[in-house]
Amino acid sequence: MNGREQWSSKLGFILAAAGSAIGLGAIWKFPYIAGQNGGGAFFLIFILFTLVLGLPLLLAEFLIGRSTQANAIDSYKKIAPRSKWHWIGIIGMISCFILLSFYSVIGGWIIAYLFKVVTGGLNHLSSNQYSAIFGSTISDPIISIIVQLLFILITIIVVSKGVQNGIELASKFMMPALFILFIILVIRAVTLDGAMEGVLFLLQPDFSKVTSKTILEAMGQSFFTLSVGVSVMVTYSSYLPKNQSLPRSAFSIVGMNLAIVLLAGLAIFPAVFALGLEPGAGPVLLFNVLPTVFSQLPFGMVFFGAFLILFLFAALTSAFSMLEIIVSVVSKNNAQRKKWSWIIGLAIFAFGVPSALSFGILGDVKIFHKTIFDVMDYTVSNILMPLGALLISIFVPLKMKKSALYEEMIKGSKVKKGLFDVWYILIRYVAPILILVVMMNVLGVW
Ligand code: PHE
Repeated sequence: MNGREQWSSKLGFILAAAGSAIGLGAIWKFPYIAGQNGGGAFFLIFILFTLVLGLPLLLAEFLIGRSTQANAIDSYKKIAPRSKWHWIGIIGMISCFILLSFYSVIGGWIIAYLFKVVTGGLNHLSSNQYSAIFGSTISDPIISIIVQLLFILITIIVVSKGVQNGIELASKFMMPALFILFIILVIRAVTLDGAMEGVLFLLQPDFSKVTSKTILEAMGQSFFTLSVGVSVMVTYSSYLPKNQSLPRSAFSIVGMNLAIVLLAGLAIFPAVFALGLEPGAGPVLLFNVLPTVFSQLPFGMVFFGAFLILFLFAALTSAFSMLEIIVSVVSKNNAQRKKWSWIIGLAIFAFGVPSALSFGILGDVKIFHKTIFDVMDYTVSNILMPLGALLISIFVPLKMKKSALYEEMIKGSKVKKGLFDVWYILIRYVAPILILVVMMNVLGVW
């Protein structure tokens, strides 16, 4: 590949990779899945999986990407020519296709809410009224499809302009602002009357609620929030010059991600309990809770609007990475990038329409007792991502020499041999066994 772009600065890569990681997974999905799975115990298991599986896998993807400097398919082909290992990349592309198809539904909800805030439609309402307005918005077929399309159009436009111009610039300012706003929100939420119960719900593990399903969902969630298992991080690190410390990047991304997850949990659950709402409410949880918390702040709707913009940004930077991995494979050069961004982006939109409608007119269509939206999410988070992660953890020690991995890891970093050894053991032994056990356990094979 000639003339591949590179990130223009070290910070650029970190921000873009963190931008891919931090998104709906931490802010929207974590609270609702944790809410459905009993809170504290789920949170703890999620953290363990993030450290023991997510972090080593993230580093493994970085090593594959930077050492090959190629896209999600060619990178595997370069390391293992004439083999089937590049199917890891194909599975990743399929995952990202499905992922963006339902991710854009939630991204669209943010746009819809933002529109309501800007037009003053949410002033001075009660908590029930917020839920009712939101419920009627997302069940409206026209509105939900239009906002989904808008979300995808923004993604297409940015990705079609290329990684460097689009993704990097877009990620630069928003992250710090999001942190600050979250902290304000947490302070407000935990000082509501009756908030303590929610804090305990999140931080006090109750292991009697843990089932094999909880464990699988916690694992899936840890992969989802870090964007690992689908070769997105392979693609992003392939644009990276050799002088960047990969371990440091991985640690900081995991750290930021866990911080956001904690902040989101501490913003949502105290409010859920203080307001007497249901923690297991599902995908609508965050959208039902947040406006009420904001409305209890001075200039609440201004803050809510600002939050929604940052939230939208976090979701978009993740969406860019999903489309980018596919576009970087199918477009042979930069001239084709624009065309393919549009073709694939619009195909994803078409595929995602039934997911958008599953909160309204297609709500009764159930497959294995799940709505279309839930089936898409479940397939990606709990089947395809763990499968991709499993294959990566087998591929890396099998096809890449230990010495070469070490060489790549110490480029641009002063990582100690001991740390490398820990990583190697985690990737070679712990990851494949643990992922297999968790997946089989749920299938009932165990
Ligand atoms: N990590 C993103 C989030 O938490 C989702 C994502 C998964 C993005 C896989 C890219 C690839 O929102």
